[in-house]
Amino acid sequence: MHHLIDITDLTVAELDEVIELALDIAKDRPKYNKKCADKTLATLFYEPSTRTRLSFEAAMLELGGNVLGFSDATTSSVTKGETLSDTIKVINSFADMIAMRHYNDGSALVASRNTRIPIINGGDGSHCHPTQTLADLLTIKRELGRLDNLVVGMCGDLKFGRTVHSLTRALMRREGIEFVFISPRQLDMPSYMKHEVAAAGFKYREVEDMESVMPELDVLYMTRVQKERFYNPAEYERLKDTYILNSDKLRAAKEKMAVLHPLPRVNEIAIEVDEDPRAAYFRQVENGKFIRMALICKLFDWRGSDKENPQMHGAMIDPEGMKCPNPKCISYVENVPQIIHLVSKEHDKYRCVYCETSVVKAPQE
Ligand code: NCD
Repeated sequence: MHHLIDITDLTVAELDEVIELALDIAKDRPKYNKKCADKTLATLFYEPSTRTRLSFEAAMLELGGNVLGFSDATTSSVTKGETLSDTIKVINSFADMIAMRHYNDGSALVASRNTRIPIINGGDGSHCHPTQTLADLLTIKRELGRLDNLVVGMCGDLKFGRTVHSLTRALMRREGIEFVFISPRQLDMPSYMKHEVAAAGFKYREVEDMESVMPELDVLYMTRVQKERFYNPAEYERLKDTYILNSDKLRAAKEKMAVLHPLPRVNEIAIEVDEDPRAAYFRQVENGKFIRMALICKLFDWRGSDKENPQMHGAMIDPEGMKCPNPKCISYVENVPQIIHLVSKEHDKYRCVYCETSVVKAPQE
């Protein structure tokens, strides 16, 4: 069974296939309008969303399929205490594929272990958001004509922003990418991501101001400060307006740079920038629908394959008996015996298989 939990669940070749198909869909939409005529997609959104859920639903409807689901978990049995695992088992009888968003890190992996139908992760806590990454890659490809040899600036909340985690992972499998992480120190990239980038042999820099790096960038990926993930509201207030991209700052940028943003925007891009030809974020929304159409088609095509969740390779009960230190990890919440405290070992370190937080007595995240 092929799921999309993390962007690396797709090989680079598979990812390119999805992108190629999305490009064809964008060119010839009528050709695909019956592709999923007998299929139903369930959208289970435990967390607020406009674009991602509607994008999945619009994608499925354009493929001639059906959709069902919920956009507000308070109307689902979760309020009666139902576990995510049980909800997923139930939905298996009603749909052919599930796209889900959940506030706990690692939730989509838990879902994929309890299903007979493909699971697509539409965002799990602050962990991953692989379908946004697909939209981002298609946008970069359409705006700049390539996915290699790029200087990519990611700006804003790199700590809690799940989109930048998935995008970094995807770009690490391309050639000649140079990362510039632009954030206040309190919101910098998680250390597990930085280790991964360095271990893969990519260059990255961390800076606190966007102005000094602006002239070098091919892509500027803006993100919102993720208010809902802060433990301390005063800290959010202090950091929320750290970056505001405006026309003045853009003057120093390359003529061919692309400005992306997963949206929703709060204050981080001034409205005046929308008129700039480099502002690609609304085109990115449309690309999101095309790429989700392509992904749905491909996951149905690949359904017969017996692909395992790569996350589960080498998974074991933590030999030191330690718990995942991330209170937002699904392993805290989901009270099912096989879910609790599984770790995998990489370079002599243990990490939680669900949220990837380090569980060694080592430097803190
Ligand atoms: C992003 C998300 O949900 O992580 N939005 C989206 O899917 N388009 C970004 C965000 O909420 O800031």
